[in-house]
Amino acid sequence: MTPPFILSPSLLSADFGRLADEVAALEAAGLQWVHLDVMDGLFVPNITFGPPIIAALRRRSKLYFDTHLMIERPERYVAAFCEAGANLVCVHAEATVHLERTVAEIARLGAAPAVALNPATPLCAVKYLLPQLDMVLVMTVNPGFGGQSFIPFCLDKVRDLAALRRSQGLSFRIQVDGGVTPDNTAALLEAGADVLVSGSAFFGHPPYKDRLDVFHAAANRPT
Ligand code: DX5
Ligand code: ZN
Repeated sequence: MTPPFILSPSLLSADFGRLADEVAALEAAGLQWVHLDVMDGLFVPNITFGPPIIAALRRRSKLYFDTHLMIERPERYVAAFCEAGANLVCVHAEATVHLERTVAEIARLGAAPAVALNPATPLCAVKYLLPQLDMVLVMTVNPGFGGQSFIPFCLDKVRDLAALRRSQGLSFRIQVDGGVTPDNTAALLEAGADVLVSGSAFFGHPPYKDRLDVFHAAANRPT
């Protein structure tokens, strides 16, 4: 039996013309988290949405806003995202020079601090910050777009991070994002992931309650 996990659907694959309805549908289907992909066209080659959209959704939703900032120098905007209602703010280690300061600032503002690592970024980029973090996001595709294929070596990275967590006696969550499907769910959970982000493999298969059940059933498939 795999331990319980959180599914955080990535709104990037939702219908952008009906965002408030999509978020309401997630809540009605029993989801607790929603993953908000913020892209600036600089750190990644795509642009999505920012604090005003998140603030508007916040007024309509009680979901846990898991906010993934794929933006250069995120320290310029962490206060705006906290103010908009982000519960968790995740910044990329590659995007900020003073990562410790940015993480401390997120915590000071009252949000849960998290750090994301691109597939090729080694775990040592975040090793000394682990006691300060609520979550580490292991990117399992190169960020920028939904619907890409899972990069296989990232499974070892999740395993290595889980080993580091054990050896340091810590309890931060491990999130995986990119190419997550029911087919790799069990392997990711077994490697040590606690939060699975899914965009295309979730929103492409309504109704959402049934899709959540599919992920839950997949968690216990033999790997
Ligand atoms: C990628 C984003 C992901 C993306 C995942 O840059 O950070 O959250 O939406 O989409 P899928 O699940 O389709 O790979
Ligand atoms: Zn994401």
